[in-house]
Amino acid sequence: MGEAPGSQTVLHGVEFGVGTWSWGDRLFWGYGRGYSKAEVRQAFDASVAAGVCLFDTAEGYGQGTSEQLLGEFLTTIDQPLIIATKFLPYPWRLTRGSLLRALKGSLKRLGLARVDLYQIHQPLPPVTVETWMAAMTEAVQADLTRDVGVSNYDRSRMQRAYEALAREGIQLASNQMEYSLVNRKVEKNGLLRHCQELGVKLMAYSPLGMGVLSGKYTPESPPPGIRGGRYNRKFLERMTPLLTLMKRIGSDHAGKTPSQVAINWVMCKGGLPIPGAKTLAQAEQNAGAIGWRLTEAEVAALDEASDRLEA
Ligand SMILES: NC(=O)c1ccc[n+]([C@@H]2O[C@H](COP(=O)([O-])OP(=O)(O)OC[C@H]3O[C@@H](n4cnc5c(N)ncnc54)[C@H](OP(=O)(O)O)[C@@H]3O)[C@@H](O)[C@H]2O)c1
Repeated sequence: MGEAPGSQTVLHGVEFGVGTWSWGDRLFWGYGRGYSKAEVRQAFDASVAAGVCLFDTAEGYGQGTSEQLLGEFLTTIDQPLIIATKFLPYPWRLTRGSLLRALKGSLKRLGLARVDLYQIHQPLPPVTVETWMAAMTEAVQADLTRDVGVSNYDRSRMQRAYEALAREGIQLASNQMEYSLVNRKVEKNGLLRHCQELGVKLMAYSPLGMGVLSGKYTPESPPPGIRGGRYNRKFLERMTPLLTLMKRIGSDHAGKTPSQVAINWVMCKGGLPIPGAKTLAQAEQNAGAIGWRLTEAEVAALDEASDRLEA
C-alpha cells in the first residue's frame, strides 16, 4: 500500500532534478547532431557529482532511448537516485493492464525492479482519470513504483486523481507542468496554489523556456528547429529587457548566469525545476542554481519583467 494522503513522498525535500528528454531524442532536440551519448553521459556524471538526486525520463523520450541511456548510466554509480518516468496513454491503451505492461517495459529499459515515481504523461482521452489511478494503485501494490504522479493535469483532473488515490491511502506525489519566467500559466490560473494545498509537488518542466532563458538565443539567432517557431524573432525581441534584468540580478549573486537565475526563480515560487541538460557544461551550470536564493524584491522584479512579455 502507498503513503497515506498528506504523508511524505519520494519528492519530499527534493528541490531540483534533471530532465532527460533530450537524451536520445532526434526529432525535437537533435540528438546525434552536435551532441550524443558521450555528452549526455558527462551531463549525468556532472549532475550526480553536484549532488543532484532526481532524474526525470519517459517511455516516449527518444522512443525509449532516454530510459535506456539512464539505465546504463545507473549501473556505473553506487549511490541511490530518485528515478521518475512516465506512461503515455496512447489511444490504443485502454486497460489498466496496458499501464502495468508499459511500466514493466520502462523498468526493463531502466534496469530497475521499481521506479520511484510513475507519472501519467498526458491526460489523453478516452480512458478516465479514475481508471488510470486504479492501475497506478495496482502498480504501487505490486511494488513496481513507490509513488504516483501526473503531468499536464488541470485542476479538476488533478483533484480527481488526488481523490481516487486518497481512497486507496496513496498521496498523489506530483503534477508535472510547464512553468518558467516565459510561461506562468500555473501560477496565474491557481494550479500551483492548488498543488500546494493538496501537498502535491509541482514539477516544473521547461524551466529554461527550452533554452531561451539562458540568454544564448537572440532575435538574430533564434533556437533551431521546432523551438524556433514558438520562440521566434519577435518573442526574443520582447524578451530582451527580461534577460537584461536576469543578467544584472545574476551578477549581484557572485556571477550567477541567466539559466541559474531562471531555475532559482522557479524554486523561489515553490516549484521543483527539472531543467534539461545535454552537456557537462549545461549540467554543471544548472546545478549551480542550488544553494542560494533570490531575494523577494528580485523575484518581484522578475515577475514584473515577465508580465511585460504578455503585454
Ligand atoms: N511532462 C511533460 O509533458 C514534459 C514536457 C517537456 C519537458 N518535460 C521534462 O522537463 C525537462 C526539461 O524541459 P525541457 O528540456 O523541455 O526544457 P528546458 O529545461 O527549459 O531547456 C533545456 C534545454 O535548454 C538548453 N540548456 C540547458 N541548460 C543550459 C544552460 N545552462 N545554458 C544554455 N543552454 C542550456 C539545452 O538545449 P540547447 O543547448 O539545444 O539550447 C537544453 O536541452 C525535460 O527534459 C523533460 O524531462 C516534460
